[in-house]
Amino acid sequence: MSERLKVAVIISGGGSNLKALIAAAEKPDCAFRIVHVVCNRPDAGGLAHAAAGGIPATVIDHKTFPSRDAFDAALDAELKRIAPDIVALAGFMRILTVGFIESWQGRMTNIHPSLLPLYKGLHPHRQALAGGATMHGCTVHWVTPGVDEGPIIAQAEVPILPGDTEEALQARTLTEEHKLYARALTMIASGEAKFPPSSS
Ligand code: GRF
Repeated sequence: MSERLKVAVIISGGGSNLKALIAAAEKPDCAFRIVHVVCNRPDAGGLAHAAAGGIPATVIDHKTFPSRDAFDAALDAELKRIAPDIVALAGFMRILTVGFIESWQGRMTNIHPSLLPLYKGLHPHRQALAGGATMHGCTVHWVTPGVDEGPIIAQAEVPILPGDTEEALQARTLTEEHKLYARALTMIASGEAKFPPSSS
């Protein structure tokens, strides 16, 4: 088997997507491996998943930097040291500078809990409920300078049920997210998903 795709996962919070990716990568036939975790918050619960999975982690606390550019420069330097094939944003809650994104474009992915291009930005589940949608879901996409704008790699749908609360819809969507990201990374590893996408 050729060398597995090297993935660095960047988190900010609970890291349930990271936990799911670690579990997927532990399967012997998995096409990717998680080589490092980077987190912008020292108190993030997701760091425990990295430790439990024996995966090295680096905390780059954004509060200790004077500017967004300074934080992004530190993140860039650490990622260059790690040298992953793919940077996977997973529950990462900061807006990255255009310069940073352009230097990693084509090697960086994100997961967003809506059927993009619907409901970009914050509170997508709330937006879907308010909009009267009957279907919702999640998307893994290539990261480009526009927020939640990049080419779509994979999506998964969930129904919106009568009486759904934001919490219920978020939980149902998260269950699909935990399968979708591994599927998307496998598509990248196999060459099925490329950046830019093939025009065919
Ligand atoms: C997830 O819905 C993810 O799509 C969004 O943040 C939520 C929490 O992610 N970006 P995680 O549990 O920290 O992976």
